[in-house]
Amino acid sequence: MTGKQVFTIAVAVIVFVCGLATVAEQFPDAPAPDGIRKGGTLFEESPAPQLADPVNTDGKRVRAYPEQPPTIPHTIRDYQINKNTNRCLECHNRIQTAVSGAPMISVTHFMDRDFQVLADVAPRRYFCLQCHVPQTNAKSSVGNTFKDVDILLRNQKQKSSQ
Ligand code: HEC
Ligand code: HEC
Repeated sequence: MTGKQVFTIAVAVIVFVCGLATVAEQFPDAPAPDGIRKGGTLFEESPAPQLADPVNTDGKRVRAYPEQPPTIPHTIRDYQINKNTNRCLECHNRIQTAVSGAPMISVTHFMDRDFQVLADVAPRRYFCLQCHVPQTNAKSSVGNTFKDVDILLRNQKQKSSQ
């Protein structure tokens, strides 16, 4: 691209942005494009929605696929994880499970990157929330058509037997 072309594009962008600003002044009530947050006007700042409640039902949830890190079925409010302390391990570490009744972290959590099983949690599995997430009762803002692979396999079997 030549310098002249770059200059022309830059001017076009500036004119466009200034144009938008003028439109904003003229039509302060222009409806906002209905994206994830529906309603309101283009220049209105709506109040943030309330924080959703954490799901605290305990028990196990079905994993969406075999390697999925299970979601956390309890609240983790105020659980600290840093270099010196790991609240999760106070219940989930091997040695604690008899007292806490929590499921032990599985053997993969003791493996280093060469799959050597260490005596304690491997550093790469120390920050639990990198992989495990709690859930809330928030309504999802977008639709979801996820189907479990079991359902897909069953559908395929039915199709091929027809
Ligand atoms: C006070 C003890 C305690 C602490 C602290 C704790 N957990 Fe748990 N956790 C449990 C128990 C007990 C269960 C079994 C289900 C239930 O009763 O909630 C569980 C279940 C889980 C499960 C589900 C396992 C499965 O197979 O479905 C995950 C994942 C989990 N915890 C992760 C965490 C993480 C991450 C933290 C830290 C942020 C944490 N837990 C802190 C006691 C604890
Ligand atoms: C790098 C991702 C990762 C990190 C970090 C991680 N996990 Fe996991 N976790 C997994 C995966 C994947 C599984 C399911 C497969 C498996 O067991 O390895 C799992 C399984 C579990 C289970 C269920 C075990 C079972 O036998 O049902 C518990 C409990 C758990 N993790 C707790 C923790 C805790 C506590 C920490 C922090 C100390 C942690 N995890 C850190 C990925 C992770």
